[in-house]
Amino acid sequence: MKKIFGLIVLFFLVDINAGNLCCSYPCQNNGVCLTKGFKDYECDCTRTDFYGKNCETLRSNLIDIPPPYDNDHSYITLGAHFNHSFYTRVLPPVPEECPTPMGVAGKEELPDINALVKKLFVREKFKPDPIGTSVLFSFMAQHFSHMFLKTDFKRGPQYQWGGHGVGQTIKIVIEDYVQHLSNYNFKLMFKPDLLFGENFQYQARASVEFNHLYYWHPLMPDEFIIGDTNYTMRDILVNPGLVIKHGMTTFVDSLSKQSAGAFTVKNHGAITLPVVQKLIQNGRTLRLQSYNNYRKRFNLQPYKSFEELTGNKKLAKVLEDLYGDIDTVEFYVGLISEKRRPRGMFSEGLLEIGAPMSIKGVMSNPLCSPKYWKPSTFGGDVGFEIVNTATLKKLFCQNMRGDCPEVSFKVPGFVEQKRTDDDCTEHEEL
Ligand code: HEM
Repeated sequence: MKKIFGLIVLFFLVDINAGNLCCSYPCQNNGVCLTKGFKDYECDCTRTDFYGKNCETLRSNLIDIPPPYDNDHSYITLGAHFNHSFYTRVLPPVPEECPTPMGVAGKEELPDINALVKKLFVREKFKPDPIGTSVLFSFMAQHFSHMFLKTDFKRGPQYQWGGHGVGQTIKIVIEDYVQHLSNYNFKLMFKPDLLFGENFQYQARASVEFNHLYYWHPLMPDEFIIGDTNYTMRDILVNPGLVIKHGMTTFVDSLSKQSAGAFTVKNHGAITLPVVQKLIQNGRTLRLQSYNNYRKRFNLQPYKSFEELTGNKKLAKVLEDLYGDIDTVEFYVGLISEKRRPRGMFSEGLLEIGAPMSIKGVMSNPLCSPKYWKPSTFGGDVGFEIVNTATLKKLFCQNMRGDCPEVSFKVPGFVEQKRTDDDCTEHEEL
């Protein structure tokens, strides 16, 4: 009996030892190994800029440099690299003369755009962002995205005249803006020197998919409350006089306290409906591949059903009636109808596809390279210190008179509603 007991103890001891997979140091790039039960482990890749089971993948490496594809060829072409007046492409266009618009899957025609806009985009009732994002964030998103995504619409949706001029706001973009939108519990930090030892190229090209992904027009409400006055979207448009009328302090304070819209279906305000309509049309002109193909390109599982995509039966039915086949859902439609990540502003797809594009764009700015990232580039230690300690609040408050107002990407006092994985309330009201 004693012998058997001893054997059982020995068995468990041996098994436990074999189960501690951290003994073989699987985590790379400074990831920290944690045991998970007796037979598994996980790597904490926080702040390493790497991800994956073993923190082995550099996020930004999912974006090719040099870029292989352009909008005119379904195969690799050097023009994609040399022709800077074109957006590059993450995935090549669907080849010409395929049986269906997405290749072989689905119907011979994609759904009518007017029907799509009516069923998926028209805002009937304002849906606020579920993590308390403020309108100040929406304006920052619009401003920031236009620093690197500018289409020459007169020449066509594939022409660009943007660059990557992000400059000294990079720190604010990462530590205030991305910190907010990811809603991570840990603190993001902007540290270009972490990449110095890596095989990293300081150049980037904006892709047309990044342009489409950044159409966050639902974040804009229909009305703005500045001080005590209500303004419609039309009153605000191209009207810088309002900032002078109310003063910068009141303006920023008001934008910080008002809730942005949720990035979800049926939440495009009237003024931005023609914008989304044109976006869908452009996606078709550019023969963008299906949303599922983009998921695969970014190491995500393709969705098998409309319900799995949306997490909502009603929306799944609407999409199924429109598309018929999950493999034909268009890029932007997939991004906006996908269920939101718990606690996040966006879906898994938008983040996992957008983050590598964003990180590559921001971190490949020449300012972040070993040659430039030093005090002399910024006029000495004082300048370097300003860049290194920049915050959203300082950006405003050091440049305005009087008391510092509320400056926040989150509406003060906002309390997030608890939700589970399959509770997708923003999609509810169709
Ligand atoms: C104030 C409300 C807004 C209005 C009226 C508006 C209007 C427009 C218009 C007319 C276009 C050009 C579309 C075309 O010709 O096809 C556009 C493009 C775009 N908008 Fe907005 N927009 C607004 C807010 C936003 C916000 C909050 C974002 C957030 C990121 C945003 C991101 C973009 C992007 C990325 C483009 C593409 C830019 C380009 O390719 O040149 N917009 N918008």
